[in-house]
Amino acid sequence: MQILPPNELSANLLQPVPQPLLITGATGTLGKAFQRICFTRGIETVILNRAELDITDVLSVEKALAKHNPWAVVNAAGYVRVDEAEKDFLRCYRENATGPAILAAACAARSIQLLTFSSDLVFDGNKSSAYVESDQPRPLNVYGNSKRLAERDVLLQQPNALVVRTSAFFSSWDEHNFVYAALRAGQHKQAFQAADDVLISPTYLPDLVNVSLDLLIDEEKGVWHLANQGAYTWAELARLAADMAGIDQSFVLPCSMQALGLPAARPSYSVLGSKQGNLLPAAEDRLHECVSQMMNKLNQESEELIALAS
Ligand SMILES: NC(=O)c1ccc[n+]([C@@H]2O[C@H](COP(=O)([O-])OP(=O)(O)OC[C@H]3O[C@@H](n4cnc5c(N)ncnc54)[C@H](OP(=O)(O)O)[C@@H]3O)[C@@H](O)[C@H]2O)c1
Repeated sequence: MQILPPNELSANLLQPVPQPLLITGATGTLGKAFQRICFTRGIETVILNRAELDITDVLSVEKALAKHNPWAVVNAAGYVRVDEAEKDFLRCYRENATGPAILAAACAARSIQLLTFSSDLVFDGNKSSAYVESDQPRPLNVYGNSKRLAERDVLLQQPNALVVRTSAFFSSWDEHNFVYAALRAGQHKQAFQAADDVLISPTYLPDLVNVSLDLLIDEEKGVWHLANQGAYTWAELARLAADMAGIDQSFVLPCSMQALGLPAARPSYSVLGSKQGNLLPAAEDRLHECVSQMMNKLNQESEELIALAS
């Protein structure tokens, strides 16, 4: 134990304890990205995993808020397995809708700001120009419906909450994204089927996190759309990434979404725009940046495999 002289002791006692930003979903893609960017930006955080804060458990939420006394909560937790959700719907609704509503009620009771995430899959795809915040959600699948319910219930419990609708993450920070999967297939010359009849807005994770944080700090509220500019089919995105990596695009096999035989229906168009203007840069510019980082990792992975095999 460090013993402080009396004058330093009293100065220390007078120091207000800084309130942290509390982040849920420590093991997930978004949670880790928040942790990383908050560290870079010098924002004090507490990041909790499910055992430390289960968003679907009122007591667990109350305990965590009482213990950490945050100025705001970022809910990066959720159920993202869109196809599995069709059968695993109870869990999907619990983690995507009940959990955020519990968080919102607890945050509202303590006047703590809340940022939570929704999805482009709240829309039915019947538009042909970018969806903006005021467009009417009409989800086609369980996941989209769970997100729609979350939006409604969170804003009912806490009208000052910030709800960010976003779409199709990509970054070199983790490997659980479509661009990575496409590049890995391309590098190994494996056929890669990708839908060419569905238009989406790929979203560069660091941009999403930085702008969401800015909005939270500015105490913005309500529904906001945050996705990088540009509309791509999945097949176009795979071919573009391959092109940037210098990989022959012929491994990409374009097909219809229906031919993929996925359990959950998807909107054929879920491009996100915003009434607030273009808050995130062009997806293509960001793709350039991260394809080279992804290829470095993939090349290193291959070298390690070759070394193991020899
Ligand atoms: N990925 C995308 O392209 C995308 C696109 C649009 C919107 N979003 C939204 O962004 C958010 C984060 O997505 P992600 O890709 O980062 O997901 P992810 O990598 O699958 O991470 C989900 C996280 O949620 C945690 N979690 C689930 N239920 C929980 C509970 N009851 N209490 C506490 N933690 C719980 C998981 O913990 P365990 O490890 O314990 O399971 C995990 O850490 C979600 O709301 C998702 O809908 C994602």
